[in-house]
Amino acid sequence: MLIAANWKLHKTPRESEEFCDKLLSLNWPTELSVALFPSALCSGAVSSVLSRATKAKLQWGPQQVSTEVQGAFTGENSARVAAAMGATFCLIGHSERRTLFHESDLDVRRKVAVALEQSLRPLLCVGETLTERTENRTTQRLTEQLQAALKDLDSTDKLVVAYEPVWAIGTGLVASEAQVGEAHQTIRRQLSALGFPKSVPILYGGSVKAESAGGLARTAEVGGFLVGGASLAVESFYAIIQASASALGLQR
Ligand code: PGA
Repeated sequence: MLIAANWKLHKTPRESEEFCDKLLSLNWPTELSVALFPSALCSGAVSSVLSRATKAKLQWGPQQVSTEVQGAFTGENSARVAAAMGATFCLIGHSERRTLFHESDLDVRRKVAVALEQSLRPLLCVGETLTERTENRTTQRLTEQLQAALKDLDSTDKLVVAYEPVWAIGTGLVASEAQVGEAHQTIRRQLSALGFPKSVPILYGGSVKAESAGGLARTAEVGGFLVGGASLAVESFYAIIQASASALGLQR
């Protein structure tokens, strides 16, 4: 199981370092992988703390990368640079990127390919809006997003998918276990149809807290969490790690 923190545009380098130091002083079962997604300007601080830690314990990645690897692209982040700094993951296609920064399905597809070429594991986010859900178009939307991002891509177990219903992100509304179970089955079926192995983890994201993590961790096809708001304080993030570990019966 993978538990990931999406810090969005929060934290200074100093706050990022303090978070990493505190989290590294805590323990969790080796079956749980933990990853941090700091803002681009805090990547150096995170990478330098984590380079002194056991690599497997805590990994990190950028919240987005350019479709380009290098060149005249002012203001962009390069997957190549992130990999050189020790990143192992890369968030791609988060709904905030898609809606606020107009990332198209084509951009998302190119970013997944660039991340893989640069040896980063793409953590591809998909999810329906409230309108799409109320109009019974969740399956259709998830299928479209997965096909647009992954069709004709060589199969790989490096991929991670996050199901993030847009209506649950930052709203305090958590999708129910039944809704998550159904969406994750849809994603799993679509990944299989596209040739991706069963080992590709499917995370859930959207207002996850320790109180909801236990039940969701036991839901079929839930391979972890992508956590926004509750990942900003070590205490609430670690509580999610602990709740997941105890729901799965893992020992420290
Ligand atoms: P949230 O954010 O946990 O604050 O809903 C999740 C995300 O945007 O990845």
